[in-house]
Amino acid sequence: MNGDITQSQEWAALEKHHGELAGIHLRELFADDPGRAGRMTLTAGDLYLDYAKHRVTSETVGLLVRLAERAGLRERIEAMFTGEHINVSEDRAVLHTALRAPADAALVVDGQDVIGDVHAVLDKMTAFADRVRAQEWRGATGRPIATVVNIGIGGSDLGPAMAYEALLDYADAGIEARFVSNIDPADITGNLRGLDPATTLFVVSSKTFTTLETLTNARVARQWLVGALGEDAVAKHFVAVSTNAAKVAEFGIDTDNMFGFWDWVGGRYSYDGAIGLSLMIAVGPARFRAMLAGFHAIDQHFRTAPFEANEPVLMGLLGVWYADFFGAQTRAVLPYSQRLHRFPAYLQQLTMESNGKSVRADGAPVTCDTGAIFWGEPGTNGQHAFYQLLHQGTHLVPADFIGFAEPYEDREGMHDLLTANLFAQTSALAFGKTAEEIAAEGTAAAVVPHKVMPGNRPTSTILVPKLSPSTLGQLVALYEHVVFVEGTIWGIDSFDQWGVELGKKMALDLAPALTSDEPQAAFPDPSTERLVRVYRELRGR
Ligand code: F6P
Repeated sequence: MNGDITQSQEWAALEKHHGELAGIHLRELFADDPGRAGRMTLTAGDLYLDYAKHRVTSETVGLLVRLAERAGLRERIEAMFTGEHINVSEDRAVLHTALRAPADAALVVDGQDVIGDVHAVLDKMTAFADRVRAQEWRGATGRPIATVVNIGIGGSDLGPAMAYEALLDYADAGIEARFVSNIDPADITGNLRGLDPATTLFVVSSKTFTTLETLTNARVARQWLVGALGEDAVAKHFVAVSTNAAKVAEFGIDTDNMFGFWDWVGGRYSYDGAIGLSLMIAVGPARFRAMLAGFHAIDQHFRTAPFEANEPVLMGLLGVWYADFFGAQTRAVLPYSQRLHRFPAYLQQLTMESNGKSVRADGAPVTCDTGAIFWGEPGTNGQHAFYQLLHQGTHLVPADFIGFAEPYEDREGMHDLLTANLFAQTSALAFGKTAEEIAAEGTAAAVVPHKVMPGNRPTSTILVPKLSPSTLGQLVALYEHVVFVEGTIWGIDSFDQWGVELGKKMALDLAPALTSDEPQAAFPDPSTERLVRVYRELRGR
């Protein structure tokens, strides 16, 4: 729908329904509807979703689906998949789904054979990764590559870094990947420590190839390499991933060793394309392609499943339900997998850079809350840190719990204990423990209120057979589409990120004032001027 979704009948119906439902405890919802646990589940690919522990009834789901229809979600999904310019503020198509479409799919957008181009790059990546893994591509001194260092930031870092950690058990060529992103010198210093220039390959990853952090780190890496092996070594130790061939050449990387992508791939949606090169080298092209097949399975599900049975649609609608009707400001993502320890950080960019907007695509201000604040840590670590607030705090924090049936490798039944914790937490969050139950255990009256577990705290549980390249792709695609669903309901452009530009420009403007003795041009504000002065004093300047 164009215009303000909060003025629609469907929104009003949800407001009314919320008024009726908000005071009902999950204990009652389960007691009144014994079939609920069996009914409120969905499967998409290998991702089994239990949403019975949400503060919804079948009626809620029906009303939310009607809201999605009213927002034109079906048409918007087609518009995305077929390459309409739905990124309106940048006038671009949004085609990350094409990065994982099979080679025999067909898609021509703006005169470009999208699938042909995608597979040409994939094949080039495959050939290169195979050569590095087979020790055919060697460093300047003839030694094989032992470490790949990806230099990138944001979408050019978080995706491959998260996925490399997730798939560490599948990295079978004896090649380690490291990831340098921050302009804090500690990052590159720490990551270069222990490396041998003769066996190190740098992948400079930047969509624009203009990003300050990445180019600065890449220059430092170049000096480190050239200092050890000389200028001629650069060709064998630096490759680039970018959309900007001219800038890659300017930096001094042979564009034959550049892996391209296109302006219709957003940075935070890009690690299933060339930005995943370091991952592909580590786990191998076959596993990378299995991951793409996983993404594609969920794409197909999202595009074709009826909304009531559509996992990303339902999860996106639940996000809207809590953000806009319950006023929940945040959403926790809690993977019960140490391998997914970077998944919440990855999701933070995906969700918050996409949906942290306060104007609609048509330029009008939004009239409801948009993107929730995503955060999380793997279980069980989080249980011993912040779960106290989830259980007994004053904030409502809907949470996604992600678990796996099979570990890659078990020890002494540890995996069952891990999973038992997941199930216990979602049950405790939903059902809690009443004062009566606590008193009946003989607890002193004065202590009873402290021990009451209110419950009624909503969770999704996503249960997956095993963490693998395919299921990782499925999980990421699931959340990409959740973001899309939410953005569509809110009527915002989920694919631009203008909000990060001002700070970048101001940092560049301010940098000379930190070092130079010359009187500075106008500071942006008196507080910042004073901070710069104190900083310079502290640095003895
Ligand atoms: O932080 C803003 C941003 O533009 C992200 O959207 C992007 O992923 C990141 O910077 C890196 O950009 P690039 O890949 O062009 O270096």
